[in-house]
Amino acid sequence: MEEMPLGKAFTLLEPGPVTWVVTHDGRRANVMTISWTMVLDFDARFAICTGPWNSSYAALEATRECVIAIPPAERLDAVVGVGTCSGKSVDKFARFGLHTQPARHVRAPLITDCIAAVECRVVDIVEAHSIVVLEGVAAWTNPVHKGARMLHAVGDGTFVADGEHFDRRVRMASKLPPGL
Ligand SMILES: Cc1cc2nc3c(=O)[nH]c(=O)nc-3n(C[C@H](O)[C@H](O)[C@H](O)COP(=O)(O)O)c2cc1C
Repeated sequence: MEEMPLGKAFTLLEPGPVTWVVTHDGRRANVMTISWTMVLDFDARFAICTGPWNSSYAALEATRECVIAIPPAERLDAVVGVGTCSGKSVDKFARFGLHTQPARHVRAPLITDCIAAVECRVVDIVEAHSIVVLEGVAAWTNPVHKGARMLHAVGDGTFVADGEHFDRRVRMASKLPPGL
């Protein structure tokens, strides 16, 4: 994985891809699928929606850290698999053939089968709405998957992958952070 500027990390999640949220509870790593995500600002703040019904939540709450990773479209079956079994009873990395490397700031690993990953700290949990607020501390892209299509969940068991890209950077220049 190659490091990318943290100030550009929001561009990974702004398109609304299906993500993998990787945790490490101090004994072992786990991963869950999350499609309910939101960018909160340019400074790498994100929200994810999850709660105590997932075993990952206990690790998020206890360790206050995770990695958000973006799988490429060809890993759709792994995305569904990771999101339909519990890390309590399954080593999902072994079952779905996921490869990892250590992250720099957090104990949860990067998944090297992914397009990109953001190491995050949990900065708030809004229990009433099952919102976990994250702050990115490092961001990575994977040159092997440069240009790979991301997945988007419709929510009814169907998915779409990225299609055509359109460039309006010149017209939007005054609305974007410097250097983007
Ligand atoms: C496409 C997809 C999207 C999902 N999105 C979310 C989500 O946004 N929030 C959530 O809590 N669970 C979501 N899930 C469900 C969790 O990934 C699932 O409950 C998982 O088994 C939790 O694993 P764990 O118990 O090992 O943490 C999603 C599952 C799939 C397949």
